[in-house]
Amino acid sequence: MGKRVVLAYSGGLDTSVAVRWMSEQWGSEVIALAADVGQGEDLEAARQRALAAGAVEAHVADLRAELASEFLAPAIAANALYENRYPLISSLTRPVIVRRLVQAAEEMGADAIAHGCTGKGNDQLRFEVAARALAPDVEILSPVREWGLTRADAIEYAVEHDIPVTVRADNPYSIDQNLWGRAVECGVLEDPWRQPPEEVFAQTRVSTTEAFEITVGFEQGVPISLDGEAMPLEQVVSQVAASVGPTGWGRIDMVENRRVGIKTREIYEAPAALALIAAHRDLEGLTLERDVAHEKARLEPRWAEVVYDGYWFSPLREALDAFVASTQRWVTGEVRLLCAPGRCDVVGRRSPHGLYDYDLATYDAEDAFRHQDAAGFVRLWGLSTEMWAKKQGPAT
Ligand code: ARG
Repeated sequence: MGKRVVLAYSGGLDTSVAVRWMSEQWGSEVIALAADVGQGEDLEAARQRALAAGAVEAHVADLRAELASEFLAPAIAANALYENRYPLISSLTRPVIVRRLVQAAEEMGADAIAHGCTGKGNDQLRFEVAARALAPDVEILSPVREWGLTRADAIEYAVEHDIPVTVRADNPYSIDQNLWGRAVECGVLEDPWRQPPEEVFAQTRVSTTEAFEITVGFEQGVPISLDGEAMPLEQVVSQVAASVGPTGWGRIDMVENRRVGIKTREIYEAPAALALIAAHRDLEGLTLERDVAHEKARLEPRWAEVVYDGYWFSPLREALDAFVASTQRWVTGEVRLLCAPGRCDVVGRRSPHGLYDYDLATYDAEDAFRHQDAAGFVRLWGLSTEMWAKKQGPAT
């Protein structure tokens, strides 16, 4: 039962082997689709590898602009950090890839789509849940989950079948990278006590010794400029990564809870994501009204969980985003970040809509704060505890 299948092709070992394996085992006609999500790899070479592995067609889709404007911008607006730390590097790219995959399958008259996710990870959820939300009847094939090959088996299969792969048998790491950062797991990292060797890092190798400052401009919560120069979000992100990364700041070493129930040790490099979220959150400190800010802070972890769990295309993510979007109306202004080896800190912020009022806040000059109002306010604020103490005896 040979089917025409569009495979999300990464160019790596598993999806290269999958091209041939699906053809051999299932008689599939495989169309490889490689998505450019800013991983900085040569995707024309990847396309050639897919053809060499036996794909009937191979295409590259540049998704960087839509990844930035439709996925990273809402993530920044939501200050999205899963378990308070992980900026959803892999989680945010899956929905944009799946959307293109489903679209390609329709355009090319394919019968099914396929992915190279393993059965142990979160990405299978993100692929399949998103695909079913976009095309409820789509057939989804998962060769890697079915074939039961170890990494060594897959390498052997590739060698035996003359499938060109770029991995070395002695490279133990599984790496996923895109515009938003880099995720590394496996190898010695599987011992959570063990310090990650320097070789796992790529974007945050220290090469800057001087301190420097960058200024990020925001409009309604979206980064729109760097040091006063307007540019598209994907460019802000890549330039911030290029300047902050060499300070060595932006590393995350964490044991995280996967949705499939296991804990995993992950190393992330996300200098741009962490710097932009820090800057954005700070600008919100200046521009959001107090109760809005507090309510938003409660919803942010939920937004991150929903996206981590694969529910990008879901009514809850849409509803949360509607709330977040309404809070971003006044989040316009600039934030100064001071970067130096191992640090990147907000040192200044300004906004035409800032709610900070010098005349109310100052201790230096005659101010506009009505000090006389404070006495009554404070009395009533403490009235209930005062009554409690009077009736039941003073607090101990
Ligand atoms: N744990 C992260 C997530 O589920 C990253 C997964 C991909 N990591 C990797 N090194 N291949 O989003």
